[in-house]
Amino acid sequence: MQTLVAVIGLQFGDEGKGKIVDKIVAEAQKNNKTVVVRFQGGTNAGHTIYAKDKDNNLVEFITHAAPTGLATNADIAIGPSVAFDPERFVEELTKARELFNYTGRIMISERTGMLLDYHRKLDAWKETKAKNIGTTKSGIGPFYKDNADRLTRITFYDYVSEHFPEKLKEVLEMKKSDLLGAKITEDIDAYHKELLTAHEKIRKELKQYIEILEYRMREYLDKGYNIIIEGAQGTNLDNDMGTIPDVTSSHLLAPHAFPTLGLPRKLFKIIGIEKIYPTRVGNGKLPTLEEDVFGPKVVKNAGEFGATTGRERRVGYPDWALVKRSVMLNDCDGIIMTRTDCLQNMDIKAGIGYVIKGEKTEELPLDLSLIEKPIFLDKTFSWILWKGHEDLSNPLEMDALLKEQRTNYVKNGFDSLPEGLKDYVKEHDKFVGCPIIGISLGPGRDETVDIKWNVG
Ligand code: IMO
Ligand code: MG
Repeated sequence: MQTLVAVIGLQFGDEGKGKIVDKIVAEAQKNNKTVVVRFQGGTNAGHTIYAKDKDNNLVEFITHAAPTGLATNADIAIGPSVAFDPERFVEELTKARELFNYTGRIMISERTGMLLDYHRKLDAWKETKAKNIGTTKSGIGPFYKDNADRLTRITFYDYVSEHFPEKLKEVLEMKKSDLLGAKITEDIDAYHKELLTAHEKIRKELKQYIEILEYRMREYLDKGYNIIIEGAQGTNLDNDMGTIPDVTSSHLLAPHAFPTLGLPRKLFKIIGIEKIYPTRVGNGKLPTLEEDVFGPKVVKNAGEFGATTGRERRVGYPDWALVKRSVMLNDCDGIIMTRTDCLQNMDIKAGIGYVIKGEKTEELPLDLSLIEKPIFLDKTFSWILWKGHEDLSNPLEMDALLKEQRTNYVKNGFDSLPEGLKDYVKEHDKFVGCPIIGISLGPGRDETVDIKWNVG
């Protein structure tokens, strides 16, 4: 069977996309060659997975620049809308070669834009201003600004070509006032030399991976290979459809992937990843924010700290109305619910709309400060998944402690889950109108209960 899926975040990022992609790839690869593709964003993504290294030890592996496929020896590809940070990419590749003996094929679109030192520094500088976004300081905003400005876009083709020194010089001259203003350098010529030196070896190493990617993707499709499109960030951080201005700078909705990769939407399943409770880092409101009991307990149980910046994430009650909108925008076929293992013995409320100007509505407005309060379903949910383990913390320790109970749930399927959780899933399906097809009960590959269809 050929697995053709796009995986996308339905909330504010950090939904567990990396873990699910890793699981899908590991299963899909059992019968077929597989490519994992990033189609947008850059190192603002932080995808944490737990995989066995070459000595069979369970290790934590975090990717920012590269697709998750590095841990599964899948082929990987970088699409033209990605903010490609070659330095970080090479670091991750080197680590994957050490940890997992990575030998997969690597493809980078000739169109992909290059995110360089000055993007990161401009981002960090802008963040020191009173009016800021709370970005990951990965250079994303300045990068996409350069892309849109066309002449300041350095493509991967430029990067690996002989003409790179001249192109870089041209771009630095165009950006001179910004670079001087932000005190990134006082001497454009010296900075130019510095960048050329820093990139000399990396350019040579990456040159072999240049492709007219849309044709390579078609070849994978036509040969019956698996194609897994790995989204980054979450729907409400989309540059047009998120909570402007507290958004990222890329177009991250799943349908955007297809034209940029030369792939047909109609052959793919789009899988939305929903963390059972939403979290948010950086500026911007969370409509169902809870800071008294539920939120702090979740932060502790789930270790809700950012993989990219280490910041504590704010937590809210489940917001089904928000997820319903994300499902509509992404044209989702199914939802996988993650971090279900982190809710235990709590009263869980489910958001089904908002009060705005005294009126009830299901519609999420652009300006979240218009929301007077969320509306919750008239019943709460509660369950005990882990008998004998009230206090849930460090995922690697938990992995050992809960191994047996997890294995049993996965083996015995949906019916074996606690009644409260089954009821939650049924009510969620009814409200959102898109089925939950999998429930993740742990950080490892074998810890997801498949309900409706096995996505591998
Ligand atoms: P993954 O792929 C969570 C947030 C930042 C900030 C805003 C803009 O791990 O789900 P940016 O650096 O993109 O200019 O920051 O977007 N943000 C994320 N939050 N997970 C992410 O990615 C994020 N990528 C960006 O915190 O609020
Ligand atoms: Mg993240």
